[in-house]
Amino acid sequence: MIRIAAVGDVHVDEDVLGRFRPALDELPEHADVLLVAGDLTRHGTVEEARCFAQEFGGLAVPVIAVLGNHDHQSDQQSRVTEVLIESGITVLEGEATVLELHGHRLGVAGVKGFGGGFAGACASNFGEREMKDFVGTTEVVSHRLEEALSSVQVDALVALTHYSPVPDTLLGEPLEIYPFLGCYQLGRAIDSAPTALALHGHAHHGSERGRTPGGVPVRNVAHPVIKQAYNVYQLLSEDVDLQLVAT
Ligand SMILES: [Fe+2]
Repeated sequence: MIRIAAVGDVHVDEDVLGRFRPALDELPEHADVLLVAGDLTRHGTVEEARCFAQEFGGLAVPVIAVLGNHDHQSDQQSRVTEVLIESGITVLEGEATVLELHGHRLGVAGVKGFGGGFAGACASNFGEREMKDFVGTTEVVSHRLEEALSSVQVDALVALTHYSPVPDTLLGEPLEIYPFLGCYQLGRAIDSAPTALALHGHAHHGSERGRTPGGVPVRNVAHPVIKQAYNVYQLLSEDVDLQLVAT
């Protein structure tokens, strides 16, 4: 069994420092790895990235993250990524990483993702150049996730995104903004591989649990949704939700 702790949308800045750390210090007792589903910072500044690294770095378990839209707000995402990597945090954008845990190989494929909407209510690659650029971005990032998922041979495969791959976990958000919260193409990428679990954030008013059309469990781990420092999910186990840890 592999235990995965996950949270997203922690939006760390100077004011948040110290809020997560007590629970994170205890995390290695409950989980083998921590996955962070984007929106690590509030405005994507280098200073805030340093705050995130201070709060979430130096744990006794590996920390793997994707960036979110907030982490792009200051156009410093490259520097933000560098700060995180310097702190020992793995940042995925269209790549996969493999960890050996308890004799099992865990693969995590990550991408920020993008909006676009879901079946029957999505943007289409038609008309104005701006619209084609928007949907083109959706398709490119989703294809990168598909490639990352298929790039590893592992015992358990996890997809980590900021944007949602399904509408199920947006329940609670206004329907009008669904196209800005995720896209069906991410779900299609997840279903193209033997993915065991998909984790995302971004939808602060959404719901925790959903499933892709292909049956892969999806969990919205946005901090305002899970209302604790992290949730723990189990892989190579009968039920991914068997063990939920309150912190
Ligand atoms: Fe977000």
